[in-house]
Amino acid sequence: MTVLHEVADVKRPPEEVYDYVSDFTTTVEWDATAIAARKLTPGVVAVGTQFEVECALPVSSVVLRYTVKELKPNKLIVLSGSSKFFDIEDTISFSELPGGTRIDYRAEFFFKPLVSTIAEFSKTGLEKMGRESVVGLARALKDNFPLKKPTSADKVADKLVLPALSLFSRLGYKLGRKRFHPMTASVKHKHMVVTGASAGLGYATAQQLARRGVNLTLIMRDQAKAEKVVSDLQAETGNSNIRFELADLSLITDVNSLIKRMKKRGQPIDVLVNNAGALFNPRSETREGLEQSFALLLLSPYCLTEGLKPLLLMASSPRVINVVSGGMYSESLKVEDLIAPDNGTYSGSVAYARQKRALMVLTQEWASEWETEGIIVNAMHPGWADTPGVRSALPQFRKITKRVLRSSEEGADTIVWLAVATEAGSVSGKLFLDRAEHATHLVKKTRESGQETEKLMRFLASNRVSADGVQ
Ligand SMILES: NC(=O)c1ccc[n+]([C@@H]2O[C@H](COP(=O)([O-])OP(=O)(O)OC[C@H]3O[C@@H](n4cnc5c(N)ncnc54)[C@H](OP(=O)(O)O)[C@@H]3O)[C@@H](O)[C@H]2O)c1
Repeated sequence: MTVLHEVADVKRPPEEVYDYVSDFTTTVEWDATAIAARKLTPGVVAVGTQFEVECALPVSSVVLRYTVKELKPNKLIVLSGSSKFFDIEDTISFSELPGGTRIDYRAEFFFKPLVSTIAEFSKTGLEKMGRESVVGLARALKDNFPLKKPTSADKVADKLVLPALSLFSRLGYKLGRKRFHPMTASVKHKHMVVTGASAGLGYATAQQLARRGVNLTLIMRDQAKAEKVVSDLQAETGNSNIRFELADLSLITDVNSLIKRMKKRGQPIDVLVNNAGALFNPRSETREGLEQSFALLLLSPYCLTEGLKPLLLMASSPRVINVVSGGMYSESLKVEDLIAPDNGTYSGSVAYARQKRALMVLTQEWASEWETEGIIVNAMHPGWADTPGVRSALPQFRKITKRVLRSSEEGADTIVWLAVATEAGSVSGKLFLDRAEHATHLVKKTRESGQETEKLMRFLASNRVSADGVQ
């Protein structure tokens, strides 16, 4: 048996340290040898919960299957792991210090007969690994990491259309992931609202947030889907604080009655994610007579966010996250083009890109208008992700790009980061892709003028009939 024993002190309360470590999938954020990790059993972490962690070895990798043996909330976690080369027992205990927590990490390795001699030789290497992983854990728990600021090289790359586009693929995510910092901020019991949570990026966002113990309100339009989403997420994560509200977000009357219901509940909103979206081909109108892309992608998030602002202001550091798209790079803001007329020139992708451009401009406007009130507003571009929306609206695009599309989880990663990471609360009015700020324009000619921006704000205000019936 080889025993590794390390101690580290961190400036975080035991509850936060325990919550973070007991979800053992976080090992990929702090243990340099962990390449991938997943939770194998549903529900809250409890005795019997299993995790699978793939660890890199000098020449290959090994998959460890861990089972939680003992848990004392905020005090102790004991896991036993087994792999083809060794078994392991990790005993991690937490004790309260003034202003922090002492982590005591003990790992006992039991090597299988064939590798025990090699293990004896590599004891020093193992000790180094053990030390580094506890140092990594303490570093992760420091939180509030520096933001990745665009370098001159990034700015040039953003302007070269092809390299910029290649970053939208799975490759871009893989490259980005190398510089991601751990997300250890505690968001347990924070109230977050996600629109379009029944599928794709919205579902993946809700799933990640539910795992972190967030109090979720999911906005969906179909009762049966909504009930299934909530029960699936509750079963998978054990989080019972997940509810849904029904609204067809392309109908402003529905948006307004949603706002009224939420204001009546009076629950402060820490994060609002405006994610619901679709690309409409051919042109169609809502029963309120608005062109669908304009109604769903722009007027709806505008009305919803303005309407829920009093609840955002009740939270201590509220954030709004608008999901835009790289499609906006091809369009400039022209307010008169936002309501695509029925004159035979309609293109779904162009209408979509124009609304996303306008949503980006709106993000910047809100960020500066609401700065003194403390509401952080950012936009994110998910890259190209293989979601039901892409499958149904862009079948040709999907056929060509299938191999390089991201998963929904990868596409949603930056939404989760903007909602959770401490450092993401320190900037407003920016566009993010893979947790890094990006230019909002690739070419000069798409830049909007101050007058056009003012026109947009007047136009949206004039199209808004608020939940109180006041413009
Ligand atoms: N996937 C990508 O590559 C990509 C790239 C750039 C930007 N985006 C943006 O990312 C966001 C999510 O897209 P996705 O790819 O995840 O799409 P998706 O798979 O089609 O999911 C869209 C979600 O929005 C909901 N929704 C659509 N119309 C609605 C309405 N009228 N009222 C209420 N909810 C409605 C859908 O609900 P139902 O299940 O009821 O239809 C679904 O939950 C969108 O804003 C999209 O523009 C996606």
